[in-house]
Amino acid sequence: MKKLMEQMAEELSAAFEKAGYDPSYGKVTVSNRPDLCEFQCNGAMAGAKAYKKAPFMIADDVVAYLKDSRVFSMTEVVKPGFINLKVKGEFLADYLKEMAADEKLSVSAAKEPKTIIIDYGGPNVAKPLHVGHLRSAIIGESIKRIGRFVGHKVIGDVHLGDWGLQMGLIITELKHRKPELVYFDDSYTEEYPEKAPFTISELEEIYPCASGKSKEDEAYRNEALEATHLLQQGKPGYMALWNHIMNVSVTDLKRNYDKLNVSFDLWKKESDAQPYIPGMVEEMKEKGFAYVDQGALVVDVKEENDTKEIPPCMLLKSDGASLYTTTDLATIVERMKLFNPDEILYVVDKRQELHFIQVFRCARKTGLVKDDTKLSFLGFGTMNGKDGKPFKTREGGVMRLETLIKDINEEMFTKIVENRSVKDKDAKETAEIVGLSAIKYGDLSNQATKDYIFDIDRFTSFEGNTGPYILYTIVRIKSILNRFKEEGGNLEAGAILDPVNDSQKNLMLQLTGFGATVENAFEEKAPHKICAYIYEVSNAFNSFYHETKILSEENEAQKASFIQLLKLTKKVLETCIDLLGFSAPDRM
Ligand code: ARG
Repeated sequence: MKKLMEQMAEELSAAFEKAGYDPSYGKVTVSNRPDLCEFQCNGAMAGAKAYKKAPFMIADDVVAYLKDSRVFSMTEVVKPGFINLKVKGEFLADYLKEMAADEKLSVSAAKEPKTIIIDYGGPNVAKPLHVGHLRSAIIGESIKRIGRFVGHKVIGDVHLGDWGLQMGLIITELKHRKPELVYFDDSYTEEYPEKAPFTISELEEIYPCASGKSKEDEAYRNEALEATHLLQQGKPGYMALWNHIMNVSVTDLKRNYDKLNVSFDLWKKESDAQPYIPGMVEEMKEKGFAYVDQGALVVDVKEENDTKEIPPCMLLKSDGASLYTTTDLATIVERMKLFNPDEILYVVDKRQELHFIQVFRCARKTGLVKDDTKLSFLGFGTMNGKDGKPFKTREGGVMRLETLIKDINEEMFTKIVENRSVKDKDAKETAEIVGLSAIKYGDLSNQATKDYIFDIDRFTSFEGNTGPYILYTIVRIKSILNRFKEEGGNLEAGAILDPVNDSQKNLMLQLTGFGATVENAFEEKAPHKICAYIYEVSNAFNSFYHETKILSEENEAQKASFIQLLKLTKKVLETCIDLLGFSAPDRM
């Protein structure tokens, strides 16, 4: 369907043309003086020079052709030459009827659907999920959902960090603790052992312990390096252990992501890319891109216009070992082979930006991707505590994701019980639903690239620009609709009519912004635009609610119109929070 803004621009363009001016001047924008008008057109100002005419004269000419417009109730020229506009209530009501009937609520499906891989989450096996991984999961999940809504084929890949020294460290520590395990027997050959010789909590304790020891004890570190090497060569006992580590860890990760309402289409891992490394490296050498520098194999990626030094991309260390960069390049090879994507988007901490600049340049230069395959990096900022420093536990340790979620849910539980609108028995479940909105909205309402302060008090508040406020608004609508139904009302009857007051018109105007907001949020990979939008819609709804008698309205058609408007508001808000990755309870 044609959006409201487009329909207005069409009217304006036609009027410009009829008045003898170029129709391209007929652009319409949301008014920056909402006290005077709803929309405006600045085309007469823009055209003044070309036509050597005072802008208000052009505007006067144009407005003369808008007198019987089906769209505008007011077209007014103000000096020096703005055209101020208000839309007809009837037109607005018709527009919302069409929007409510549209499956995508006026979002136009992408003309050329693209295959887009989003690399997000990025947890490391056997290391506990910490808050640093939270942002990647939340932002990536939202962009995936928005991308799908606008019609693209989006594939989410968790890209597990399962390769490298951390595995060697765990194996080494296990060997010290349980040398009797069959896996350390050189004659061990079983491929698929049954039960893991450790639990997830042990595993999570083993890694930091081993990592600490390796920093102080060189012999221990060498042992871990050797174990990593043997694992990478496929030593059966170590492969079996690796399998156990993977199973135990992935089960736990899935449980955590489930709680966050985050899911992945692919559970690919760094190790899956390893088989692609030898061929890729060989080709880069053959084509003359890769050369040996001080024993290491590198590819130059600096470019003429660089303002800062971009060091060469290192493929192999002098001992022949591959690196994080090599794995990421090989993963691109694998992804191109399996999915031939039009775009790969990485949602990773912005401190890894240089790494991705190197990887992207190297991939492009050496022809790993098609010329028109987009490689994009969405680098997000740090989540800080109230002191402005990276978020820590009260004791100063690294905050585990589970702890953070527990803290939020407890805070939410207290607030919900204080509210007393929910029975104790439901309060826990409700606290989890609302708590998730607090975390996700708190994160997503900031521009992703910026650092932000994680403030539990503010994020869990029912007032202000927060997730719980948005949910509160949805719950309020749900309860009005329920009451209407209980009183014998028919939720399907009637249609949206002209607005009865300014607050209703404002709500209706806000709702028309849905399509453009979602399309733009995808274009700019900016979920925060959806947050800003639903905050406005919620404010508009709450003003309307306070200024209008809805259920006590006596005119049946008018009441039915309010109900249809409520239903559309609810649908818009619910669709938006689903795009952000959370949902609303029935009561709170
Ligand atoms: N596992 C990495 C980390 O914790 C993030 C992975 C990001 N994705 C990638 N393709 N490099 O830092």
